[in-house]
Amino acid sequence: MIRVTVPASSANLGAGFDALGLALTLYNTVWMEEAQGCHIESADDSQIPTDESNMIYQAAKLLYRRCGHPFRGLHIRQENNIPMTRGLGSSSACLVAGLLGANTLLGSPLSRADLLDLAAELEGHPDNVAPAMCGGLVTSVMEGGKVHSVSVPVAQNIRFAVFIPAFELSTAKARAALPETVSREDAVYNLSRAALMTASLFSGSLQNLRFGVQDRLHQPYRFPMIEGAEQVFYLSYDLGAYAVCISGAGPSILAIVDEAQSDRFVREAHARLTQAGLGDWRLKLFSCDPHGACVAFE
Ligand code: HSE
Repeated sequence: MIRVTVPASSANLGAGFDALGLALTLYNTVWMEEAQGCHIESADDSQIPTDESNMIYQAAKLLYRRCGHPFRGLHIRQENNIPMTRGLGSSSACLVAGLLGANTLLGSPLSRADLLDLAAELEGHPDNVAPAMCGGLVTSVMEGGKVHSVSVPVAQNIRFAVFIPAFELSTAKARAALPETVSREDAVYNLSRAALMTASLFSGSLQNLRFGVQDRLHQPYRFPMIEGAEQVFYLSYDLGAYAVCISGAGPSILAIVDEAQSDRFVREAHARLTQAGLGDWRLKLFSCDPHGACVAFE
């Protein structure tokens, strides 16, 4: 039996649409072994597909096929801590777990870089799968079916407060809301800020984050789909967040806060959510996971 642990991820970070993402200290765990047929169980009563449509199972099966190895089936047990359809990389975590787990069961014929290429191909964009696989703050480019990426740590005094609403928003729906073309002015607006965002998170130039996080490519179109988002942005900045953005395609919101202020931030933000009639939003505090997906033998 092997155990695969994969972190949640927050993609885009404002300006870096489909390019930037970071891993969070929130993990799904998957236990996997070869079996005859499909045997899937939840370790925590999460509602997961227990048939062959299960994403971990599908990814693992695909890896066996790509490696030219006969696939008989798997026994999978999964513990899901990453909320699903909330913009926190739950589907990427499943893909990475399935690919990495299956590759390990086969004796690791593929490298981590090969697995990342495959995960990005399946996901369609690399900004969640890259941090899920590698950890850290990751800048990724996909070209010719390959992911070219760099993972760097974020400054140590940064924490990530994640506001998670009770409702879901599918990535497909959130992508369908975006325009097909953008102006050169908006393209330049975003690319300059995306570059500033990564350099500032890495170097700890915290005063830049509020500017680096600004975006014109996706958030303006997604705000109307996330009831309460504007209040969460407002209260987060009011309580001293360095930067606030939609996490991935939403609906969760990511606030970047100073570690020394983070407990106060969470306490006061909880009270403000209730006052704003958003008491059903959850609020969790994380660091940036530096390791990415890990495998152990049990
Ligand atoms: N970059 C993606 C998006 C992340 O914003 O649609 C969600 O998978």
